[in-house]
Amino acid sequence: MKTIVITSQKGGSGKTTLTANLAVAAELGNHGPAVFIDTDPQQTLATWWNVREAESPKLAPVSLRDLPEKLDALGRAGFTYCFIDTPPALTEQNAQVLKRADLVLIPTRPSPNDLWSLGATLDLVRQSAVPFAFVLTQAKANARITVQTIAALSQHGQVFPSVIHDRVDYAASMTDGRTVLELNANSPAAAEVGELWGFIEKRIRELANVSELANAGKRVKAHA
Ligand SMILES: Nc1ncnc2c1ncn2[C@@H]1O[C@H](COP(=O)(O)OP(=O)(O)OP(=O)(O)O)[C@@H](O)[C@H]1O
Ligand SMILES: [Mg+2]
Repeated sequence: MKTIVITSQKGGSGKTTLTANLAVAAELGNHGPAVFIDTDPQQTLATWWNVREAESPKLAPVSLRDLPEKLDALGRAGFTYCFIDTPPALTEQNAQVLKRADLVLIPTRPSPNDLWSLGATLDLVRQSAVPFAFVLTQAKANARITVQTIAALSQHGQVFPSVIHDRVDYAASMTDGRTVLELNANSPAAAEVGELWGFIEKRIRELANVSELANAGKRVKAHA
C-alpha cells in the first residue's frame, strides 16, 4: 500500500478537498481500493465522509499512536492507497505522520500569504526525508500570479504541472459527500483532478522503481 499525506500549515489551502478528490480519482481510475485517514481534530474529512452515500473509499479510524501498525494492517487488508489528511499545524504529530508517507503533497494557493507561510511546512517535510510535491490549488484562470507562484515553488521542489483552479464545483460537490468527479465527470474540474491523479500515480510508480533498484543494489553488495 502506498501512503499519500496531504499537508500544509496554512489553513484553507485545500488539503481536505484534495484528499477527498484524489482518493475518489484513484478508485475511479481502477487503482484502488483506497482508504482515508483523517488526523485533523476538526474532522472535516470524516464529516464529509459521513454524509457520503457511496461505500468507498473507506475511512479508517486511527489514533496517531497506532498509525504504523494500522497502516501495515490496511496494506494487508488489500488497500492499495491510503490518503491521510492533516491539520493546519506544525506539530510533532504531523511530523510523525509525514514519516509514514510514500509521497507528500503540499497544496498551495497562488498568493503571497500562502508562500510566506510555506517555509515552516517545507522544513517539517524536509526533516521527514520523504518525497514531496507542491500542488497549486484555488488558482484563478489566466492570472499572472499563478505562473509566478509555479516559478517560485519550483525553486524548492517538484510542482505538479496540472493546476487545480478556483471552481464552485469543489465546494458544491462536497456539501453532500461527493467530489467533482461524481458531480459531473465531464466538467473541467473533473478533468483537472483526473490529470493530477495521473501525475501522482506515475510519480508513485517511478519512486517505487527507484526504491526497488536501491534494494537490489544493497542485496548485490551484501552478497559481494
Ligand atoms: N479548487 C477549489 N476551488 C474553490 N474552492 C475550493 C477549492 N479547494 C477548496 N475550496 C474551498 O476552500 C475552503 C478550504 O478548503 P479545504 O477545507 O479543503 O482546505 P484545508 O486546507 O483542508 O483547510 P484546513 O486547513 O482548515 O483543514 C473550503 O470551503 C473548500 O470548499
Ligand atoms: Mg482540512
